[in-house]
Amino acid sequence: MAATRPVLDVRDVRKLYGTGETTVHALDGVTLQVDRGDYVAIMGSSGSGKSTLMNILGCLDTPTTGRYLLDGVDVSALTDSQLALVRNRLIGFVFQSFNLIPRTSAVANVELPLAYSGMRGAERRRRAMFALDVVGLADRADHEPNQLSGGQQQRVAVARALLTEPSVVFADEPTGAPWSPSRRWCSPTSRPARWTSPPAGRCSPGCRTPPGRPARRSSW
Ligand SMILES: Nc1ncnc2c1ncn2[C@@H]1O[C@H](COP(=O)(O)OP(=O)(O)OP(=O)(O)O)[C@@H](O)[C@H]1O
Ligand SMILES: [Mg+2]
Repeated sequence: MAATRPVLDVRDVRKLYGTGETTVHALDGVTLQVDRGDYVAIMGSSGSGKSTLMNILGCLDTPTTGRYLLDGVDVSALTDSQLALVRNRLIGFVFQSFNLIPRTSAVANVELPLAYSGMRGAERRRRAMFALDVVGLADRADHEPNQLSGGQQQRVAVARALLTEPSVVFADEPTGAPWSPSRRWCSPTSRPARWTSPPAGRCSPGCRTPPGRPARRSSW
């Protein structure tokens, strides 16, 4: 039944890197189901395959064998352009190393996914400013990544991942560092509440709440 279908359905997924004696079995038969609305943490020692699995779940990589159904769709059957659309519309990804574009302002980094979706510039900028405000970085909007601390860069990456209101958010090592601000922003209780209940009107210099924001997605 569609209502009970898991949003992520991973079946006996294996990922091998290399060939012959140097083959690395990064994933060795992972089976996992995640239901809509679930908040799941995958834990393991360094090199145990967490990033490998995240990349497959986020449609950035494909398994060597096994099946992965995203909301019931076998992603191995999708074309590259369909995969790009899925990544843009359904998935928010916070990379382990943040993957911010160097020599580009924080706000321009955040609004990038909306540029790919064809939204006009002024609206993109307004929403990106709102997202930066939610993670407490409205006053750093014009700073480039190398002018931000590690935690601030991570928050820019979180803002970018949340901006398109994706169906599912993947965060690789979101709470890895003890100082990590994402402990607050990625918490299942605090983040959606803050995200959907911004202060009314002007929330900080240069930042306005976008009018008519859609309600919180049930899958969060
Ligand atoms: N492109 C690659 N080519 C060969 N081996 C790789 C490649 N990427 C990852 N590996 C290997 O696959 C294994 C899993 O790596 P992965 O990055 O998924 O680990 P991880 O659990 O995310 O580790 P960490 O906690 O250190 O980030 C490791 O042994 C790693 O050396
Ligand atoms: Mg990793």
